[in-house]
Amino acid sequence: MKLLVTGGAGFIGSNFIRYILSKYNDIKIINLDKLTYAGNLENLKDIEDNPNYTFIKGDICDKELVEEVFSEDIDYVVNFAAESHVDRSIVEPEIFAKTNILGTVTLLNAARNAWTLGDGFKEGKKFLQVSTDEVYGSLGKEGYFTEKTPLDPHSPYSSSKAAADLIVKAYFDTYKMPVNITRCSNNYGPYQFPEKLIPLMINNCLNKKPLPVYGDGMNIRDWLYVEDHCKAIDLVLHNGKIGEVYNIGGHNERTNIHIVKTIISYIHDNVDSSVDESLIRFVEDRKGHDRRYGIDPTKIKEELGWYPETKFEDGIIKTIKWYLENREWMENVTSGEYQKYYERMYSNR
Ligand code: NAD
Ligand code: DAU
Repeated sequence: MKLLVTGGAGFIGSNFIRYILSKYNDIKIINLDKLTYAGNLENLKDIEDNPNYTFIKGDICDKELVEEVFSEDIDYVVNFAAESHVDRSIVEPEIFAKTNILGTVTLLNAARNAWTLGDGFKEGKKFLQVSTDEVYGSLGKEGYFTEKTPLDPHSPYSSSKAAADLIVKAYFDTYKMPVNITRCSNNYGPYQFPEKLIPLMINNCLNKKPLPVYGDGMNIRDWLYVEDHCKAIDLVLHNGKIGEVYNIGGHNERTNIHIVKTIISYIHDNVDSSVDESLIRFVEDRKGHDRRYGIDPTKIKEELGWYPETKFEDGIIKTIKWYLENREWMENVTSGEYQKYYERMYSNR
């Protein structure tokens, strides 16, 4: 069994590769990753010599390279590769359209060419598109996103992910290509790049830097520990019904300000008592900021028996401890370019 993972050097992809290699010894993984600012081979240091693992540096938009990868007789594709940060998409939308849309089509096309047999497809093939709950847009105080909620993305990032989802769907509707789409809520855990809320706040607390909270801090995200997401993807890959979309989330809605205060409190009590809420700064809101996300996971629970194992209260402590124990990782990813990014995003906010 050969599994092509794209974007496997990023946050969720690296956690997924580690999860699959530890669970199965009959799956060979090829990780195709461009190693953008978000891709980091340090995330995979512990498994880089595993005989079931191969790394290829490359772009999912590179048609020739992608076709060459498919000459390897790939069985499954899990497409994580993407530009993933909303704030960056507001400043530089083009790269989001390129990687997230064109990259997905390039992969789909190569998979289709390699997998076609007569009028249909070879047995045992699947293309899994890792999408996001952000394609559904924003919720009011009530209700949840189900798989039937209309797509209503607002940022260049979420629009590019929605466009990719529709193309994946088109490959199923038009060619009957074996595909699934998963739409997960906000992940947190080890190896997340500190441009995202939780690692950014941990890093700033440790460096006693101001904590930039957008708007009134009352936006709500539905948090899922990354390993629970990896388990869900594994289940959909092996047992998901062809052509179906599965939402993934564990009913862990929290306001942003609650998350920030939880991190401050842990660091205050366990690391540095001078870190406190005086570091919080309410700054200019994100443009087009979605107010609330909340997933209804009924379908994946009932059809595939998935459930989230990590409670938010445990997962957030595990996560903060991981960053404390991996200060060198954090220092490496926040040196150089990250400083310029931070300056650009936050200095005039
Ligand atoms: P990430 O930014 O940490 O990692 C993205 C990876 O993709 C990096 O390793 C990067 O080098 C690689 N990449 C980028 N452009 C590429 C290209 N053109 N060719 C090959 N590789 C490329 O992202 P993440 O948070 O791990 O998210 C992974 C996927 O999961 C994304 O598709 C994202 O939309 C989706 N998702 C993320 C979350 C979340 O909370 N982080 C939630 C739901 C869905
Ligand atoms: O819902 C899934 C999505 O979650 C994924 O598809 C995206 O790839 C992922 O980045 C994430 O998007 P968000 O925009 O929700 O995540 P982010 O960590 O950027 O922000 C979370 C919330 O925190 C959001 O309401 C904005 C706010 N925020 C973020 C940052 C970086 C702040 O208040 N201050 C900050 O400095």
